[in-house]
Amino acid sequence: MAELRAVNHDAKTNKEISGIDMPVIGLGVWMMNQPGECLQAVTDAISIGYRLIDTARAYGNEKEVGQAVRDSSVPRDEITVVTKLRRVHAVGYESTIENCRLSLELLGLEYIDLYLVHAPPEDPTAREPVWRAMEDLLSEGMVRSIGVSNYGLHHLEHLKRYARVLPSVNQVELNPWIQRRELHQATRDIGALTMAYSPLARGQKAQDRQLESMCEGLGFTAPQAAIKWCIDNGAIVIPKSSHPGRQLENFQSMDVDLSRIIDEMNKLDSNHVSGWDPTVEP
Ligand SMILES: NC(=O)c1ccc[n+]([C@@H]2O[C@H](COP(=O)([O-])OP(=O)(O)OC[C@H]3O[C@@H](n4cnc5c(N)ncnc54)[C@H](OP(=O)(O)O)[C@@H]3O)[C@@H](O)[C@H]2O)c1
Repeated sequence: MAELRAVNHDAKTNKEISGIDMPVIGLGVWMMNQPGECLQAVTDAISIGYRLIDTARAYGNEKEVGQAVRDSSVPRDEITVVTKLRRVHAVGYESTIENCRLSLELLGLEYIDLYLVHAPPEDPTAREPVWRAMEDLLSEGMVRSIGVSNYGLHHLEHLKRYARVLPSVNQVELNPWIQRRELHQATRDIGALTMAYSPLARGQKAQDRQLESMCEGLGFTAPQAAIKWCIDNGAIVIPKSSHPGRQLENFQSMDVDLSRIIDEMNKLDSNHVSGWDPTVEP
């Protein structure tokens, strides 16, 4: 499967401190709220071939994700587990360390592959101590890679002033309807990857008429085109589905050739925010 390397660089020397190879597509597990739903979905996804799972403390399903990963016949080191420091816990150094420990306990895993600050801490003065704790979690080996989520241009600029280690990933909403060219470039400029969440705009664009008509006769679906658009733009993409049929459809988007419609797709950008957008917060 195609992979991208997520690298944490030393902020001063730009030397690689840690790097992990991640598949370009993973399963998102937000809104898997029924008991057992997430366990089943992750189990199905792993058997389809998914090797990256994106969860968060806020989703309330780290336990089921960990169980599915541990119970699968796929070796642990072949699955990338991503989880996130919840915003209400991103208040200082100690809280960051404690909540990472708790996530490890809930997951029942020895390490987290990628740990993200879920959104810029609401108190700007907490951003530096929270990040310092993330750096220490990395050096202690509790996590293999550290990154951020929902950081806008000004959040990244600020982070560059206090970070000793630069993030490997910025996870943001990204899809043909919200293309964020400037933020994507700023993320690359600090040596990080963009991880595209809500590639179907939380499902709001799964049956988008305009995209459906572009895909007509080409042998792939509109959701596959939206997902592949993210990959073709150099991002890792994490569509959510609780259904094996749609998980497979989404997974197979890797094989889609968008060359005949890419110019048209690039015109779909309408800055469509499907839910929250902390990138524009102070
Ligand atoms: N960092 C953040 O702040 C943040 C925010 C939002 C999301 N995320 C992450 O990104 C992941 C994905 O984003 P998302 O869950 O917001 O939305 P999404 O992946 O854009 O869309 C998911 C919705 O689309 C439906 N769907 C999936 N595949 C489909 C297909 N092929 N055809 C038709 N419908 C389809 C799903 O329904 P079914 O399940 O019924 O198939 C679900 O309702 C999340 O699960 C989470 O891991 C992160």
